[in-house]
Amino acid sequence: MQYSDRITRLKAEGAFAVLAECRRMEAEGKSIIHLQIGEPDFDTPGNISEAAIKAIRDGHTHYSPSGGTIEARAAVAEHIKRTRGIETAAEDVVIMPGVKPVIFGAIMGCINAGDEVICPNPGYPTYESVVNFVGAKPVPVPLREENDFRFDVNELRSLVTPRTKMIILNSPENPTGGVLTRSDMEAIYEVAEENDLWILTDEIYSGLVYDGEFVSIGSVPGAMKRTILMDGMSKTYAMTGWRMGYGVMPRQLADYLSTLAVNNFSCPASMVQVAMMEAFVGPMDEVNIMVEEFRKRRDVIVDGLNKIDGISCLKPQGAFYVFPNVKELGMTSQEVFDLLLYKAGVAGLPGTAFGKHGEGYIRFSYANSIENIQEALRRIEKILAEVRAKA
Ligand SMILES: Cc1ncc(COP(=O)(O)O)c(C=O)c1O
Repeated sequence: MQYSDRITRLKAEGAFAVLAECRRMEAEGKSIIHLQIGEPDFDTPGNISEAAIKAIRDGHTHYSPSGGTIEARAAVAEHIKRTRGIETAAEDVVIMPGVKPVIFGAIMGCINAGDEVICPNPGYPTYESVVNFVGAKPVPVPLREENDFRFDVNELRSLVTPRTKMIILNSPENPTGGVLTRSDMEAIYEVAEENDLWILTDEIYSGLVYDGEFVSIGSVPGAMKRTILMDGMSKTYAMTGWRMGYGVMPRQLADYLSTLAVNNFSCPASMVQVAMMEAFVGPMDEVNIMVEEFRKRRDVIVDGLNKIDGISCLKPQGAFYVFPNVKELGMTSQEVFDLLLYKAGVAGLPGTAFGKHGEGYIRFSYANSIENIQEALRRIEKILAEVRAKA
């Protein structure tokens, strides 16, 4: 059978492939500590689950409008105003099963074959994958450790060509945990404005900032006319499996994305929209406990990694990832990843799973208990000492 050229341009995600490999090893009786996963190990807060159960009982089991119910879209608009100070209307909101379909829709809706899209590198691999899928060219902008994994705006400006159509931002960032500042946002917006570019801002980790403030580029005056802002329930509310996200964007694009939805998955799940509305207005106690626990784990893993010879690790301000530098070990990222997984039973991800500028780094997720993180640190230290002893 023949397949389209297009489909071969999509890439799988490293984290899912590593999870499958871990499961295979575990079935053989190996002990693996999972630091590769990008999802909270907490359960969804009880009030949200109860709201979904009630919604099912109340009959929210039918199709909804393709871009979401008007009540849920209005609730998102209100949430965006409360969390970012951005005024928007329900009609500018599209609700989809996760942030991923919003990324997909935004790129499908704004980018033609031959266009260029500036993507953070190391960065979330879906951006480059979907840009390639539509026949456009991803242009990596390096996020450097010496700049706290933030954009160098002059470097960003130097990458803009007459074909550039979009800049993608992700702050707090996967995989580095880097957070952009307000002045970064203002400077990036200037570049976009000067060159008439779309800004895609993936704010899925907006609720997970431990130091400093979360700033949305959408709050820079004037920015929303060229910005597609997206966030969702997966990370902040521990709702990865529910599949619920949303985008705020210029109305014409919101209409296009609703049409894309109707041609693809029809609509977001009705009872999950009700659950999202409860999450926005209900008690935040469980979320706050989770965020506080992530902060403690971050401190444990950063301190522990910095005590290991050959590894140095910046303290990230957000998300639940660390991105330690392993260059002094004298191995590639892939070699360090293989050593840790196959010889120590510690699963991370090679930095190169997030692009070429991830070489020399490993990503660990600290969405795991402090006991498991401490055991992983012991295992890493032990295997590296053994390798050093043999050399
Ligand atoms: C940067 C980033 N964007 C989007 C997503 C996917 O989010 P969702 O579960 O809402 O589709 C992830 C998940 O790992 C992510 O890290």
